[in-house]
Amino acid sequence: MQNDIAEILVTEEEIQTRVAELGRRISIDYRDKVAGDPPQSLLLVGLLRGAIVFLSDLMRAIDIPVQLDFIGISSYGSGTESGAVRLVMDLETDIAARHVVIVEDIVDTGKTLSYLVGNLEARNPASLRICALLDKPDRRMVPIEVKYVGFEIPDKFVVGYGLDFAEGYRNLPFVGVLKEHLYKVVLM
Ligand code: PRP
Repeated sequence: MQNDIAEILVTEEEIQTRVAELGRRISIDYRDKVAGDPPQSLLLVGLLRGAIVFLSDLMRAIDIPVQLDFIGISSYGSGTESGAVRLVMDLETDIAARHVVIVEDIVDTGKTLSYLVGNLEARNPASLRICALLDKPDRRMVPIEVKYVGFEIPDKFVVGYGLDFAEGYRNLPFVGVLKEHLYKVVLM
């Protein structure tokens, strides 16, 4: 698996350091918001499937009460280009009047998050923000406000730490650039 990687873009250590910083910031930003009467927990909404590795580390870097839920949105086929966005699995939690942070692995065109924000805003949360490990601003087609960003990265095809190519490579502990011939073959 490691032989398929052309270059490591973000190391395991860099990820852990940044995740700890993001967890601290989120804890500070939401401490008072969730301490009301009655107290509530911060709801972290993870996007399946790419966000689960980031989410599992991030939640342990947050030191205020959190609750988890998951939503499934499919935006890609097996290739590398964005296709149609559709909801494939909904939340179990009623998010009305809740403070919600969407946790995402990567913002690319912005289509997935734009769709999701519209969908969740309609459910009247108390607040809604996005936390994404990776941001590829060069690829943006739809404007989207990402409050918490781990790393801005160039327009390269990345895998690892939850990100896949054709469902593989998610378990790499770092973010790496996939060798071009591996995904070009599949796309042709
Ligand atoms: C990927 C990624 C984001 C989305 C970003 O999801 O996890 O959710 O694409 O792309 P966009 O900004 O262009 O919309 P994918 O559909 O590959 O599913 P996955 O999370 O299961 O890997």
